[in-house]
Amino acid sequence: MGATRVGIIGAGPAGLMLSHLLHRQGIASVVFERRSRDYVESRVRAGVLEQGSTDLLASTGVGERMIREGLAHDGIKLRFAGEEHRIDFRRLTGKGITVYGQQEVVKDLITQRLADGGEIWFETEATAVEGIEDDDPRIAYRRNGEDATLTCEFVAGCDGSHGVSRTSFPPPRAGEGQGGGVYERSYPFSWLGILGKTPPSSDELIYAYHDRGFALHSMRSPEISRLYLQVDADDTMDAWPEPRIWDELRLRLAERELQPGEIIEAGITPMRSMVTEPMQHGRLFLAGDAAHIVPATGAKGMNLALADVKVLAEALAAWYRSKSRDLLDRYSELCLRRVWRAEHFSAWMTALLHRDPAGDPFDHKLRLSYLRYIVTSEAAATTLAENYVGFENA
Ligand code: APR
Ligand code: PHB
Repeated sequence: MGATRVGIIGAGPAGLMLSHLLHRQGIASVVFERRSRDYVESRVRAGVLEQGSTDLLASTGVGERMIREGLAHDGIKLRFAGEEHRIDFRRLTGKGITVYGQQEVVKDLITQRLADGGEIWFETEATAVEGIEDDDPRIAYRRNGEDATLTCEFVAGCDGSHGVSRTSFPPPRAGEGQGGGVYERSYPFSWLGILGKTPPSSDELIYAYHDRGFALHSMRSPEISRLYLQVDADDTMDAWPEPRIWDELRLRLAERELQPGEIIEAGITPMRSMVTEPMQHGRLFLAGDAAHIVPATGAKGMNLALADVKVLAEALAAWYRSKSRDLLDRYSELCLRRVWRAEHFSAWMTALLHRDPAGDPFDHKLRLSYLRYIVTSEAAATTLAENYVGFENA
C-alpha cells in the first residue's frame, strides 16, 4: 500500500492546480486521472479566464504561454433585435478577461507538474474513498486491471460532477436550507458547441439573443473559432448536420462574415446548476465541478475551480505549517460565497439570453426590454461587467 499526504482525484484544472500549489508549499500529493494524458489535453472545454485566474497562473509560474498566446479582451458584444451593443469591461470595472482554452491551462499545468517531478497517475481510476470520517483516508483505485489502495492524510475530490468523491458524502438532503444538501436546477435546453477552422469574425465575444434562441461567438486563436447554439434539451448531433449549424449560427449571430470551416470538434452539453453544501466532509474536500456546476453562459466554471483550490491549498498549507485547522474548517464557507454569486450570475445570464421553450410572447418582450436596459443604463451594464470579470474577494 502506497502513501502520500494529499490524494487528489481528477486531473482537470482543479486537481492539477491544487497539486501545483501544494508542491510550491512543499506538500506531496498524487493525482489520479482515469483518462489518458492525451485525452485530457485535447478535451475541448471552457475558455474564459478572469483576472484572478490569470493572476494565479502567472504568479505561480504557469502563466508564460497564457500571457503569450491568450487573447486579452476588454469587453463583449451583445446582439439582439438587429442591434449590437458593446459592454466595455475595462471602462466600467478597470478589468478585462483572457480567452485561453481550458485544455491549454491543463497542458501547461501537466508540463509543470512533470517537470517538478510531480505524480500524475493517468489511466488510473479511483474506485472508492474510505476512512474520511476516522482520520484515516484511503483511496482505492484500479490501474492496468489491478486494484490497489493509497493512504493519505487528506483527499481532494476534483473529479467533476460524475466522479466518485461525491458518492462518499452523506446522502444528499436536497434543498434543506440551513442543513445544507445538494441544490440543483436543470434547464430546458442545451448548448451545441463547435470548434471550427475559421477565423473569428469578431475581435470580441458576441452573445446573441435571437427569437430562435441563443448563440455565442467565441474563439481560441486568430484561426480557430469556438461557437455555440442553444438547442433543445433532447437534441442529438444527428439533428444538426454541418450546413444547418453554420446557417443557424450566421442567422442568430447576424454575422454574414462568419465563414463555414472544417469542424474540428462538436458536442452537445446540457445546461445545469448544482451546488453541494458544505463542500467538505471529514478529511474529504470537494473542489471545482465535483462541488458545483454552473451553466456556461457566465463563463465561470474554470474560474470557480481555480478559486476553490487556491483556498484549499492555503488551508492545507496552514495545517502543515502549524497544525491549525481554522482555515480547513472554514473551507466551505470561504468558497461558497463566491460560488453562490457565480451561480446567481450564471442563472441570470442564462435567463437573459435564452429562449424559454415554455415562454410566451410576453416573456420575449420582457427579455428584450431587460437587454435594452442593460445596454442603456450604466448601473445595469456595470452589474453585468463586474460579475463577468469576477470579484477578487467574493
Ligand atoms: N478517478 C480518476 N479520475 C476521475 C474519476 C475517477 N473516479 N472521475 C472523474 N475523473 C477525472 C475526469 O476524467 C476529469 O479529467 O476528473 C477530472 C475532472 O476534471 P474537470 O471535469 O475538468 O473538472 P474541474 O477540474 O473541476 O474543472 C472544472 O471543467 O467542466 C468544466 O466548465 C467546467 O470549466 C469547468 C471545469
Ligand atoms: C468559450 O470560449 O468556450 C466560452 C466563452 C464564453 C462562455 C462560454 C464558453 O460564456
